[in-house]
Amino acid sequence: MNTNSDRVVLAYSGGLDTSVMIAWLKENYGLDAIAVLVDAGRASGLEALRQKALDVGAAEAVVIDARDEFARDFILPALAANALYEEKYVLVSALSRPLICKKLVEAAGSHGAGTIAHGCTAKGNDQVRFDLGIRSLAPSLDILAPAREWNMTREQAMEYAAERGIPVPLKKDSPYSIDENLWGRAVECGPLEDPWLEPPEDAFAVTVAPSAAPDEPAYAEIGFEAGAPVALDGKKLPLVELIDAVDALAGSHGFGRVDMIENRLVGIKSREVYETPGALALIQAHRELEDMTLPRELLHFKRPLEQKFAVMTYNGGWYDPLMDALRAFMAETQKRVTGVVRLKFFKGSCIVAGRKSPNSLYDFGLATYGGEDAFSHDAAKGFCELWGLPLEVWARKNKPKKD
Ligand code: ARG
Repeated sequence: MNTNSDRVVLAYSGGLDTSVMIAWLKENYGLDAIAVLVDAGRASGLEALRQKALDVGAAEAVVIDARDEFARDFILPALAANALYEEKYVLVSALSRPLICKKLVEAAGSHGAGTIAHGCTAKGNDQVRFDLGIRSLAPSLDILAPAREWNMTREQAMEYAAERGIPVPLKKDSPYSIDENLWGRAVECGPLEDPWLEPPEDAFAVTVAPSAAPDEPAYAEIGFEAGAPVALDGKKLPLVELIDAVDALAGSHGFGRVDMIENRLVGIKSREVYETPGALALIQAHRELEDMTLPRELLHFKRPLEQKFAVMTYNGGWYDPLMDALRAFMAETQKRVTGVVRLKFFKGSCIVAGRKSPNSLYDFGLATYGGEDAFSHDAAKGFCELWGLPLEVWARKNKPKKD
């Protein structure tokens, strides 16, 4: 192992596994853990979790508030790309992992650690994102993934913890595995492993059931500047606050639940449940504004690249040079994506109720069927004639011979 010190930076979440890892890394590798907890939004009780890491034997424990950076450097480019994996998943976890990697690598540098450890298991995508992210940013650091090595069940981990005086969860464990940040909430495991079973209500935390949503619709006007959401109902808001506000409103109207069968990179089809009201509403509004402000060829060229962007992100390729190129392309397309989109939330749905932009390419005179029609009807006949010419030539040549 290429450690240049006896210190390891651990991606610490405060849960049972990463707490146990602090002791395990010492016992199995003789490494002192520096627990790093990265706050990418929606985290709570952070100081208590930091203290817990110290109590269970971490040499140091730090909490890094990375919410603004997450919003600016990860969510915004993803929104510019309308990034949805398999057309449904807004990449909650996939976007946060490269941010966490960046923070871990920075911490390894400042604490003189030669190794980074993360808590991912062997079956998920997150291990890929951590491993690739760390290797992209710091190829000479060693990577340890204790949960990939130790093969402990939940019960064994609890036993291991109890033997070493590490506090174990007292109340009955939630059956779910949850990952949460500013861009949404991912829920896996427990009863959700049966794809035929409708997700129980207790799987959800930030959306109400559509049937329990208010009987009156709510409207939200999202103001964008150069592709970035900057205002809600005419009021300028910092990005993190704006995302939180849209999330709360959309979720309170039962919008944003996703239940899907997802293709993991490691070859498993998995049943995933997401609550991503704010992210989905913002992507919908953003895409709508693009439809109004981007010319046809650019728009049609961009859409398939958005899928590539999402797949690359999902598969742990955030720091791949292709992503730099895709981000540059997306950024170039956003320059004129400025305007306001009016969303309407009602009983689990979100629809676009209106859109306007100083850069709108919608031309009333060209579009109207009324008296102000400015479209050149005369030109249309010749246009059709030439546009259809190759088809006509083909048809003449290939038409079935009658005589
Ligand atoms: N399936 C999603 C993904 O791969 C969510 C993962 C959630 N992660 C977790 N550790 N619970 O991005």
